[in-house]
Amino acid sequence: MLQLKFTDPASQKTEMMVIPVCEDTDIVDDPAVTTTVDQVRKLKEFKGAGSDKIVLYSPPQFHTARVLFIGLGEAGKVEPETLRALAGRAVKHGIKSKLTQMTVVVPSSENIHLEPKVILEAMLEGACLANHRFDQYRKEKDSKSLKRIQFCVKPRIGRRFRNLPGRVAATCGGTILARNWVNIPSNDKKPAEFARTIMRLAKKQRLKSKLMGKKELQQNKFGAILAVAAGSQAAPAMLILDHHPQGAKQIVALIGKGVTFDSGGLNLKSSTSLNLMKSDMAGAAAVAATMLTVARQQSNLRVVGFMPLVENMLSATATRPGDIIRSYSGKTVEIGNTDAEGRLILADAISYAVQKYRPQVLIDIATLTGACVMALGEGMAGVFSDDDELAQTIIQSGDKTHERCWRMPLPEDYKKLLKSELADINNMPKSRWGGAITAALFLSEFVSKTRWAHIDIAGPAYRKKGNDYCGPGATGFGVRLLCDFLGRI
Ligand code: BES
Ligand code: ZN
Ligand code: ZN
Repeated sequence: MLQLKFTDPASQKTEMMVIPVCEDTDIVDDPAVTTTVDQVRKLKEFKGAGSDKIVLYSPPQFHTARVLFIGLGEAGKVEPETLRALAGRAVKHGIKSKLTQMTVVVPSSENIHLEPKVILEAMLEGACLANHRFDQYRKEKDSKSLKRIQFCVKPRIGRRFRNLPGRVAATCGGTILARNWVNIPSNDKKPAEFARTIMRLAKKQRLKSKLMGKKELQQNKFGAILAVAAGSQAAPAMLILDHHPQGAKQIVALIGKGVTFDSGGLNLKSSTSLNLMKSDMAGAAAVAATMLTVARQQSNLRVVGFMPLVENMLSATATRPGDIIRSYSGKTVEIGNTDAEGRLILADAISYAVQKYRPQVLIDIATLTGACVMALGEGMAGVFSDDDELAQTIIQSGDKTHERCWRMPLPEDYKKLLKSELADINNMPKSRWGGAITAALFLSEFVSKTRWAHIDIAGPAYRKKGNDYCGPGATGFGVRLLCDFLGRI
């Protein structure tokens, strides 16, 4: 739980006081803090550099058993992400020390050239996100999340941003929900089961939900979703969550790829690529968590989330390379490769969203291609859109939340790479190069005239090693970004 404290750090009783220190200037405006920081700076091992960290036990000026000093580097170079990382490191230190609570001193904005709100928000986020651990499959929990994280701020700041801890906890709570779902192994999140888990939470937020099972998908001719699901014992599903406040005129549609396991199908993946394919539903997780957050925060926009959910397996009933299927849109697709399944389920979900809801803006988010990871690495997502304003808004949101997005092109002439001799389109491009682009171009064939952007999160959705405010595994990428985006339109 995140809390603001208006008292000065020295009189605060706490298990651990955290003091951020820059290498060149004082950034906390408090006499007790300045005195101890001066003492600590005399030590050889602590200069306030970005990686510096030192603990003093029971220093006389404070009512606490420990003070943790953490370096922030040069004051002029501090960015929101530096502060998120600092708060995250402090929380991880607290968890390792088996604390239940700690207090973080928030630097003043005079020497750090950031708005007070930006400083506080970044620190709240880093702390909240670092406090999450995924341990539901372990009996022995080697460490526990902190119960309370307090932030010492000046009363003037505290009064102004009274509601900020609650808001940050709500959005970061969304990120954590998404992380948990992605971390759950595929044997415990078959499409129907995953859909029901989301629906239970959606009901509590009074979101309207609609679940289509295999029968309804057949009746409504979702041929592409059914083709991907054909090799699995688990039935596919399409979950729709609708946040519909009174008087809302615009509709924003969010569509998330929900492949609960991607074996590649008959075009079986290699054993190394199979490893992380439980995370192939990270797009759907991001959409579901965003919908729950939007409902909780009572946004006045109408937002509709679409989650096509399938398991891509191989068996005697699986779709074969060379098969031709008819998608929901009526377009036929030659299956050049059963491992290019994400674009198939997204195509059906996109056509359905466009036809039935006529949204003003449509965004899809998906762990779509290995090629996007090749191009941009694991630290950023690719954004594809013909609409400059839409792409820029998404990129701005990503800069704000540090879920970085990089604009990628949609060259018209590359579309010929998706030509099929037998069907309307092939799901496998003729060239192995530019795979993230050809995947996005495939999707563009199903959006008609809708303002549309595609976010490929194959790189940043999952990390083998943790960072300062994320454990190893799922990152929850996209939830904070989409929530911020919805606040901008
Ligand atoms: N789920 C994968 C993409 C992926 C790769 C996600 C790495 C996360 C990490 C997707 O379904 C896939 O297999 N794409 C193929 C497409 C190809 C067959 C045209 C790819 O990227 O190789
Ligand atoms: Zn695949
Ligand atoms: Zn996939």
